[in-house]
Amino acid sequence: QQGPAFDSNAMTLTRFVLQEQRKFKEATGDLSQLLNCIQTAIKATASAVRKAGIAKLHGIAGDINVQGEEVKKLDVLSNELFINMLKSSYTTCLMVSEENENVIEVESDRQGKYIVCFDPLDGSSNIDCLVSIGSIFAIYRKRSTGVPTVQDALQPGNQLVAAGYALYGSATAIVLGLGSSVNGFTYDPAIGEFILTEPNMRVPNKGKIYSINEGYASDWDAGVYNYIAAKKDPSKGKPYGARYVGSMVADVHRTIKYGGIFIYPATKSSPNGKLRLLYECNPMAFLMILAGGLASDGKISILDIVPKKIHERSPIFLGSKADVEEALSYLK
Ligand code: AHG
Ligand code: MN
Ligand code: MN
Ligand code: MN
Repeated sequence: QQGPAFDSNAMTLTRFVLQEQRKFKEATGDLSQLLNCIQTAIKATASAVRKAGIAKLHGIAGDINVQGEEVKKLDVLSNELFINMLKSSYTTCLMVSEENENVIEVESDRQGKYIVCFDPLDGSSNIDCLVSIGSIFAIYRKRSTGVPTVQDALQPGNQLVAAGYALYGSATAIVLGLGSSVNGFTYDPAIGEFILTEPNMRVPNKGKIYSINEGYASDWDAGVYNYIAAKKDPSKGKPYGARYVGSMVADVHRTIKYGGIFIYPATKSSPNGKLRLLYECNPMAFLMILAGGLASDGKISILDIVPKKIHERSPIFLGSKADVEEALSYLK
């Protein structure tokens, strides 16, 4: 019985991105360069995440970010990795990071045509207890002429060129929405590359799982409350399972794989919900819709929201088409 053969022709993420580029004759290769630099930032973040306990990267960095959250050391390190790898890709001119109050401008001699909005470490409340966390990125093309300004970062999600996330879970994975499909890659430490393991990911049309933080139930609108109650009511059909990780990347990845619905609704204390439009809701909505699902703020598609501020928040109903449509039917 032979051991597992060494695949001498593995489809790596690097190869996949170059293959996608070949579909566009006029492509300059800048997007490929950008995606491969993002890949490096993710590999380095994964390495830090998996050594954090030993490297004493857990715990509070003692800082409070613009979100009013305690910033943990891994947040800081992953933010620096993304900024440095993106700047040195020579393909970006502006960045928005959850951890930076203002837009990050790239010095003119290193500027390129892309704008990247990213959440360098998503699910930071789960770092110290070793629950899955992730990174999220969204890539726009600069549409205006002249020097880059914050306006260039306030494009609706329907202008996205590509988006994706890394999941630092039981395996390290990257899910990338590029061109006309969503593709999943799993990190192989033996060769230090992400290997294509889930080509053309499609979200099931309907699932059996709902995902929401029930701790805020007393704060929900009646529509959300009634929808979640219906998901538990045997008289309305087989009750759904409840799954909530508290890391958006983990909850969204499960939803793409298994189907169902993820909701972070408006609450009385957070009238626009908690999740940020530019680097959480938009990239996840882009992926879910590209994989055949839906993503709404309760009224319109997430991708049609025109942002006014770089850290603005939006309620989000995201997942299987039938489940999101059913949830929206409960909202007044
Ligand atoms: P981040 O760690 O990047 O600030 O994101 C945390 C977000 C998101 O990952 C998750 O879905 C949500 O916070 C969970 O919020 P609650 O703890 O309020 O449920
Ligand atoms: Mn945060
Ligand atoms: Mn986040
Ligand atoms: Mn974050």
